[in-house]
Amino acid sequence: MSIRILPSVLNVPDNNVKAAIDSVADFVDGIHYDVMDGRFVPPTTFSISDFEVLKLSLFTDVHLMVDDPEDWIEGFASAGADLQTIHYEAKQKSVLGTLERIKNLGCLTGLSIKPKTFVETVPDDLWDYADVALIMSVEPGWGGQSFIEEVLDKVRYLRGKYPHKDISIDGGINAETGKMACHAGCNMLVSGSYIFRSEDYRKAVESLRSCEHDL
Ligand code: DX5
Ligand code: ZN
Repeated sequence: MSIRILPSVLNVPDNNVKAAIDSVADFVDGIHYDVMDGRFVPPTTFSISDFEVLKLSLFTDVHLMVDDPEDWIEGFASAGADLQTIHYEAKQKSVLGTLERIKNLGCLTGLSIKPKTFVETVPDDLWDYADVALIMSVEPGWGGQSFIEEVLDKVRYLRGKYPHKDISIDGGINAETGKMACHAGCNMLVSGSYIFRSEDYRKAVESLRSCEHDL
């Protein structure tokens, strides 16, 4: 499986998300868009209308760090999201029900767990259903945190169970931790600060992409 690189635009220079996306669009596989509601996590970030005005033609991975994701998914689907990832831990009537609604809205479905959530506690039917498993390698809420290596056991577990599923990792990903994640079985890397705090975005993305060649 080839590695896909998705820059997170949570913390970009001058908070200019559009400019940040334009500057990486030619050499990335999509954009990771972090949505926080101030409830599931303390910060509040982008809204559906913030996303809508971007009118992105790139693949978009909307990471919903929100309680009640059912209140958001229709808006993001109409605004053009390709993949919507919800949290297993989020307040919602039924996790499977939310995933099914995302699929019915025409989007790919993602299921994410926080670092302290045991992968085995998530019912198999949820992992079976989700197109993408997103393993958080930092506590959700903020960019720029350090990678939690222990979560790689969850990646190994899921890769063992699902040889062909997309497995993504989010938080503290750089060339070194990206390589560890790919070795463990990830085929999608989300990375924010490492890319947008670097001098050369293309070089940073290439260094993440080379994680697969080192396998
Ligand atoms: C954390 C977000 C991440 C984060 C990644 O809550 O979900 O997507 O912005 O940023 P870095 O790569 O800086 O950890
Ligand atoms: Zn994220």
